[in-house]
Amino acid sequence: MLRRSLLLGAGALAACGAGASKPSPQTLAPLKDAASFPLGLAAMTGQFDDGGWTQVARTHFDRITPEWEMKMEAILLEDGGLDFSRSDQLVARARQMGLGVFGHALIWYAQGGPSFEALADRPAEFRRAYRGYIARVMGRYRGQVTGWDVVNEPIRDDGSGLRDCLWSRALGQDGYIIEAFEAAREADPDVPLFLNDYNLESNPAKRRSFLTLAERLLRAGAPLSGLGTQTHIDCDLPDGAIRQTVRELAALGLPVHVSEIDVSTDAGDPARQPRLFAEAVEAMGDLPPAQRFGVTVWGARDRDSWLRRGGEHNPLSPDRPLLFDDDGRPKPAAQAFAAALRA
Ligand code: XIL
Repeated sequence: MLRRSLLLGAGALAACGAGASKPSPQTLAPLKDAASFPLGLAAMTGQFDDGGWTQVARTHFDRITPEWEMKMEAILLEDGGLDFSRSDQLVARARQMGLGVFGHALIWYAQGGPSFEALADRPAEFRRAYRGYIARVMGRYRGQVTGWDVVNEPIRDDGSGLRDCLWSRALGQDGYIIEAFEAAREADPDVPLFLNDYNLESNPAKRRSFLTLAERLLRAGAPLSGLGTQTHIDCDLPDGAIRQTVRELAALGLPVHVSEIDVSTDAGDPARQPRLFAEAVEAMGDLPPAQRFGVTVWGARDRDSWLRRGGEHNPLSPDRPLLFDDDGRPKPAAQAFAAALRA
């Protein structure tokens, strides 16, 4: 899957609804009632107007993670001003439905903006704008979110170190990350602050780089207070990889968030999907309660998945990466997820 093709052009999609659909009979007891940790769901504002989506969201989940509306590309204007209309609307819709909000994502290699690029060779002004952005975004939602992904996807895909990006070029490797966490902690003394990345299950080198970065940050005194593993996996992921990853992240003593799980059926045997979702639940449940930040599924129904929107999507053989089918009916994966929660 070409991730890049999936990461662009969120704006138009995020604003529109998922296409209204009829609610479907729920034959599954509320997942959140069986969980010993919070259950999250990726969401975009338009989905709150879709009865099929809201039925799944309100029945089974505690909180949402905005797929787009709290990212820099949704908030930062070309001139450096901030437009909170989209993020405010999403937070309001979530609150109306009694759902918490997990903030995602303050600093990400994939997004920047001309106002920052214009300061790239003026470190002092760049730093002021960088810390100012974090302070203003977090300040606006202080007391309204259950945590923040402060820095998202810092590690190179091959695990050989940290990505080169606008932020690292201006403020240095590790430096931009430490500064982001410091600015975040200044903006909100209480909220959990996460470092988040993907492919940690399937790429031991990347997992090792992620962990050594986290250890460096902690040694440097950065107020890192949680580790997120996105867990965008395929059905061919070997048994035990999720458990091993969650266990290694938890060894640092911080809360762990399985932050964006989906299990693509585009690769591997789709019959393995239930077991992989169950493993994520078991791995979270194996942690001490204080470290169980939760499991967030990256979409409600298969039709809501980002994996259905990218250039790689094959409409003749659609991916089915989530717990509920296109009509909101629980799949075997949802049943296995529920059974693992109850175990
Ligand atoms: C994705 C959203 O799901 C898409 O709707 C959007 O077009 C691009 O971003 N890792 C992340 C998420 O941290 O922010 C990405 O979300 C998926 C990969």
